[in-house]
Amino acid sequence: MKIQGKSYRSIWEDASGRIMVIDQRKLPHRFKTLELNQWQDTAAAISNMTVRGAPLIGVTAAYGLYLAICDASNDNWLLALKKASEALQNTRPTAVNLAWALRQQMLSIHASMSKKEASERLLNNARQLANDDISVCKRIGESGLKLIREIANRKQGGVVNILTHCNAGWLGCIDWGTATAPLYMAHHEGIAIHVWVDETRPRLQGARLTTFELGQENIPYHLITDNAGGLLMQQGKVDICLLGTDRTVRNGDVANKIGTYLKALAAYDNKIPFYIALPSSSIDWEIERGSDIPIEERDANEVKQVEGQGQLGIDRVSISPDNAAVYNPGFDITPARFISGLITEHGICKASEAGLLSLFPDLNKS
Ligand code: MRU
Repeated sequence: MKIQGKSYRSIWEDASGRIMVIDQRKLPHRFKTLELNQWQDTAAAISNMTVRGAPLIGVTAAYGLYLAICDASNDNWLLALKKASEALQNTRPTAVNLAWALRQQMLSIHASMSKKEASERLLNNARQLANDDISVCKRIGESGLKLIREIANRKQGGVVNILTHCNAGWLGCIDWGTATAPLYMAHHEGIAIHVWVDETRPRLQGARLTTFELGQENIPYHLITDNAGGLLMQQGKVDICLLGTDRTVRNGDVANKIGTYLKALAAYDNKIPFYIALPSSSIDWEIERGSDIPIEERDANEVKQVEGQGQLGIDRVSISPDNAAVYNPGFDITPARFISGLITEHGICKASEAGLLSLFPDLNKS
């Protein structure tokens, strides 16, 4: 997707082979890129949310293991990789793409390889994971586009109103995004769409990132408070909800950014289709139900303070008593029964074990 008319990915290798990312903490006020030179840089970038979004977290960690082997000695590279993998795994617990990407990397190497051979393998894999994510998101886009087309046809050319939460866009993936790919494709096809963007407290990924992405592609949107969606649904101003996920489990329950569950309840009550877009790397076949998904608890200051552009630059201000007690879970679980369908790279299915298995029969690991 584009920034100021120039195509970007969320992570890339520059002409000198340096691994580069966009510092998402600074958007939309500043566009700043960062170099990740050591695996510790990738771990820090994931935990401090320089990079975020389940697929991007996974690819960043995959590059992290490549950087870890670059810094390791010829004799103990495997041990160094195991240590880096464990530390990367602990950066953010909810997005399963992280464990998935680390596993892909670790399974691709073995002790009998030379360090050179293993490092080439890790670099190629990281590139492959990034490229695969792009084609997966495109395929998710094509499936989701059909849903938007149907609504546009039913509305006979009237504007299709889509509600989204957090940022399941290209910034959280490598390109296209999951929930946003259908939007970009519909817009490119000339379907009139309009997006309601939940601000998404406390990190404001909707207000800061989704608005930025949509604006760069000239897609009409309104930024709304997290609490406005229910009213808009009652008023018939939402045709479909399209969101992403950090982990979807065997029975179709979905972990996604905190606030997703409340939107699903409102959509269910108002009979509005509520879809989750996801790559297969976000499916956790090992977990049976959503209540077993680990929920990341984040820093209290995310809730007690707000960051934004002030007169003198980017500033943080306090919005509650300094000693306010805070509980800040980063994600919630939406039970499958409130989800109209899962949009994957293999098509759309019911949010259920049978639905998932109908699209991914080979991945049944029971
Ligand atoms: O805490 P974040 O910003 O990493 O949370 C991101 C989300 O919840 C996204 O909806 C999800 O990862 C899908 S990104 C394509």
